[in-house]
Amino acid sequence: MRLFIAIGLPRRIREGLLRDNALVRSRCSRGSFTREENLHLTLVFLGETEPERLDTVKEAMDALSSPPLSLRVGDAGMFSSRDGAVLWRSLDGPGLSELQQTLSEELEARGFPQEKRRFTPHLTIARHAVLRKGTELRALSSELTSSDFTAKEITLFLSEQADGVRKYTPLYHKKLTLPAGK
Ligand code: 2AM
Repeated sequence: MRLFIAIGLPRRIREGLLRDNALVRSRCSRGSFTREENLHLTLVFLGETEPERLDTVKEAMDALSSPPLSLRVGDAGMFSSRDGAVLWRSLDGPGLSELQQTLSEELEARGFPQEKRRFTPHLTIARHAVLRKGTELRALSSELTSSDFTAKEITLFLSEQADGVRKYTPLYHKKLTLPAGK
């Protein structure tokens, strides 16, 4: 099973991203845009995982203790890679890096080796993206709309490819809650 742990986005935020994407698309000469239902923030990519280890992954998620997080969708950015650039929107807020770090440590302690790369929180908007000549990311970002939401849970997703379409199915949710009495 191909697994990853992510923060899903409320419909309002996904719809806002899609509205912005009309502009982003007009500034790209190429790009394969993420379908609305697949927009998410990956915290940890587990990759191919034996089904017998599912309970251990859930245990690592349950070991977390984090309040809900206030997050903001912001600027556009790009990563270049061998198979073309990834165009993304930033998503960040207080406590997010700590949550990702603690989750990585809980998984590592249970035998899931973790990437040493720095966590760059992002929402992948398009793959194989090419900006039109003369388009600058900074200028594009200034035309996009920031939006805020509160993340109240993290989700374990199963990633599958069927008929050429990537599908993410939620398998388990871990609520982010204030400690009792606060
Ligand atoms: P991306 O959006 O930056 O590609 C499911 O594939 C999720 O896991 C995606 O959000 C993807 O991030 C993330 N991910 C992180 N590392 C990955 C890897 N090595 N291979 C595939 N997906 C990865």
